[in-house]
This record gives sequence, C-alpha cells and structure tokens, in this order.
Amino acid sequence: MPAMNLSPATGMPARVLSGMRPTGQLHLGNYHGALRNWVALQDRFEGYFFVADWHALTTDYDNTSLLQQHLQQMVIDWLAAGLDPERSTIFLQSQVPAHAELHLLLSMITPLGWLERVPTYKDQQAQLKEKDLATYGFLGYPLLQSADILIYRPAFVPVGEDQVVHVEMTREVARRFNHMYGRDEKFGAKVKAAVGWLEPAARETYRELRRRFQEGGDHAALAEARALVLASSRLTAEQSELLLANLEGEHHRLLPAPEVLLTPTPRVPGLDGRKMSKSYGNTIGLTEEPASIARKIKGMTTDPARARRTDPGTPEKCPVWDLHKLYSSAETCAWVRAGCTTAGIGCLECKQPVIDRIAADATAMRERAQPYIDNPGRVREILAAGAVRANATAAETMQVVRRSMNLVPADGTP
Ligand code: TRP
Ligand code: SF4
Repeated sequence: MPAMNLSPATGMPARVLSGMRPTGQLHLGNYHGALRNWVALQDRFEGYFFVADWHALTTDYDNTSLLQQHLQQMVIDWLAAGLDPERSTIFLQSQVPAHAELHLLLSMITPLGWLERVPTYKDQQAQLKEKDLATYGFLGYPLLQSADILIYRPAFVPVGEDQVVHVEMTREVARRFNHMYGRDEKFGAKVKAAVGWLEPAARETYRELRRRFQEGGDHAALAEARALVLASSRLTAEQSELLLANLEGEHHRLLPAPEVLLTPTPRVPGLDGRKMSKSYGNTIGLTEEPASIARKIKGMTTDPARARRTDPGTPEKCPVWDLHKLYSSAETCAWVRAGCTTAGIGCLECKQPVIDRIAADATAMRERAQPYIDNPGRVREILAAGAVRANATAAETMQVVRRSMNLVPADGTP
C-alpha cells in the first residue's frame, strides 16, 4: 500500500472529502470523472465520501419519489467500484444534521452577492428553464456545500473543474469566519510566547517569512515558514497550530480553508459521441450486462468518413478512439491507428477490444455489487456506521464553532 499523506497540522493522515448527488446507477462518465479517483485516494488519505441527498432537493424538490432508490443504487456502485467502508467513511448527508446547523450559521455571515455571483447559479437557472429555481434553497446550494466541506476540516476536496468555484467560495467563507470569530485578546501574546520557544535561529526567520507572505503574498515563503514550524521539536501541538494560523493572519484557524484537488477528467464519450450523460440517454452503466455493453458499443457512432469498410478514417474524429485511450494498451492503440487510417480493420473489429475490457470491468464490479443487491440491509448498515463516524467528527467542529460564536459558554459547559 502507498504511504499515507500526513496532515501538516496534526501529523495524522490528511483527510479528503467529496460528495455526489444521488443519481442512481452510475455510468462510465461518473466513474472516470470522479469515482475512480476517490477509490485511488483512499489509499493515501483518510476519505470521507457522502451522498449529497439534500443537494438533490435543491433542483428536484418537486419529485422525491426516486430518492431512496437512487441513493441506494449509487452507494452500491461506489462499493462495486472499490470504495472500502473499512477504510473510508461513507455516509448520507441527511444523516449528519450538523451540516444543516453549520449551513445556517454560515448563512449569517455570507453576503448575498457571493452566492449570486457563483456562475452555476444563473447557468443552471437558464438550463433548467422548466423548473422554478428562484428558491431560497437553490441560491444557498453552494453554501450548503461549504458547510459539507468545512465541518470535516479536510485538507483536500477532490472535484472536477465544474466544482472548483464552489470550493473557492468555501475558502472565502472559512477566511471570513476565522477573521470574524477567530480573534481573541490573548492571540498576539500567545503567538509571541510560541515564537519564543522556537530555536533561536528560527525565530527571526519565522517573522521574516511571515512578513514576506503577508505583505508580499509570497507563497514560497509561506511554505517555507510552515515547514520551519513543523520541523521544530520544541513546540506543543497547540503552539504549532497557533503559529500556522498566525502565518495567515491575527486569528485562529477555526475552520481551515481546504485545497482543491483537481480531478483530471478525461473525455468520456457517450454512444452518440456527445459527452456521456444521463440526461442525453447515451450512457454505459458501470455494472451493465456484457451482452448489453456489446450491443451498445457495436451501435456506437464512429468517424463519419468511414461510411464504407474500405474508407480510411481518423481516430481523432471518432468517439471509440476516446474509449481506446481510456481502456487500451499502447500496443492496441497503435493497432487501431494503423488499421483505421489505412482501412486495414473494420470498425466492428476495432471496437472489440474496448467491448472486452469494459465488459470485464463491469462483470468484476457486478460481482462485487451482487451481495449488496441481494441484501440491501447491508448498505444501510454501512451508511449507518459511516454516519456514526461522520457525526463524531462533525460534532468536534461544531463545538469549536458554537464556542467561538458564543452560542455556548466559553468554558465548554453545555
Ligand atoms: N455539488 C456537488 C456536485 O453537484 C456535490 C457536492 C455537494 C459536493 N457537497 C459537496 C462535492 C462537498 C464536494 C464537496 O457534484
Ligand atoms: Fe473509430 Fe476504430 Fe472505426 Fe477508426 S476503425 S473510425 S477508430 S471505430
């Protein structure tokens, strides 16, 4: 197993968190765009992966009849693809009510303009014209996402390009929160004391690097300063955290701002050559039957220049080529290129290796899914166990949040 990535702040494995709307059975586009990456990340990070069932309501509030079926099917596909409930925390958003509490509290400090400015707000309203999305919930969607993220204090949020703006807004919200509630009168004095504990030579360096970052936005200086703090064996964990916080400002990092971990998203073509998407009806399911996979791919669009078997083609103009790039060896790809451009092979022949690979993957995943399909109670158990872990982590953050907002007495008595 590869080595775990450790969190600089805690020395524990760094946490990643991501969520997915419950769309039912997943297709190859969902797999290559997100799920495959989640499965890979769980080797190196402490993974928190959840079903964003409340998010589904922001656009589909008028018909919730398929919600249970969709979330069940999706979680089965996660398990089929190799997400491991022993290593990763897999749960439903609605089973951690603290997401809603944090959303509410963050809503108090979030300017309306931040939400109105999120590009997906106007885009989606325009795209889904048949729906009334002039709702409070839809406007607040990105902030609910911020609460989903910040409540687990993850180091990284793996998402595709389309979600980056949401994570960026989350960082702004975290900064605003820390700035507003993370100040205490003793902060400066405590920082001074902690700096005094650094090795004598490191004290001036720390101050100098901090100045370079804060005044000049020098990120290399920030990284160097962090390394310096973490390398010091003379600080307590609390002092290290204080100095790391002080690099960013005169306040505590109550809610650490997470980094985006951009998921490389290869082009996954649908059967008609457009992007694979449930709404186009052009998908191949992750656990589909081999016969159905073969039938679909045999009917898949190819380079229109190859109307006849004897016409040469151009792989770059063919969606099947995109599948080869995802599934075939360099050797097979070379065979495709040579055969296509010289009309040496026919399209059906060309498609066979992808059919075989996709069908083999789907069969392996189907086998992994079968016990859960036979026993849906097992899925519920996994989600319940995940919710216990998620609630415990969320509760720690909420304690900090409530205390810093003076919603509970500072001494911690309930
Ligand atoms: N908005 C995401 C999507 O539509 C799903 C999501 C909700 C999410 N909360 C999240 C992703 C938190 C990452 C982190 O795909
Ligand atoms: Fe596409 Fe292969 Fe046919 Fe070329 S031979 S057009 S790459 S299916």
